[in-house]
Amino acid sequence: MLQEVEYLLAFCYTKAIKNNEMKRNLKTMSKKLDIYLANLAVNYIKLHNLHWNVVGKSFKQAHEYLEEIYDATTESLDAVAEYQKMTGDFPKASLKNYLELATIKELESKEYKIDEALNTVLEDQKLLRDLATKIRNEADEKNDFGLVALMEDEVAAQTKRIWFIESMLK
Ligand SMILES: [Fe+2]
Repeated sequence: MLQEVEYLLAFCYTKAIKNNEMKRNLKTMSKKLDIYLANLAVNYIKLHNLHWNVVGKSFKQAHEYLEEIYDATTESLDAVAEYQKMTGDFPKASLKNYLELATIKELESKEYKIDEALNTVLEDQKLLRDLATKIRNEADEKNDFGLVALMEDEVAAQTKRIWFIESMLK
């Protein structure tokens, strides 16, 4: 009988530790997704700044390409926030929150030469890809296939943009 009680206590203790670990993991993941979402939001406006204020001989091409990226960015923003809702999280939804959390820095509202604009976008896409890769790998460890799929789509799109921009800058 005593052995059974000891076994039961040990079982409960292990389960409690596992539950705490799971809660801690979810919290870490949630924080990373908050930062990722904030970066997308800040980048959305930053890309508009560049879309409006880029100058140079290939203005039309750069202007239109920047529009293509901010359109895709707003779709990513929605997909990440909706994933958070689906999984019982609460997506941050104010500019104040985004500015507090984002690791992408805003730009001054002024004219930018095409190379300068493209280098800025390149840097931001690399930052987003690094974070999306980290989130993807952590999600994989937790068998969170939905988040793995979402982040793999993000990484694939960012990798293509990095290739495009690096080719434009050569
Ligand atoms: Fe426009």
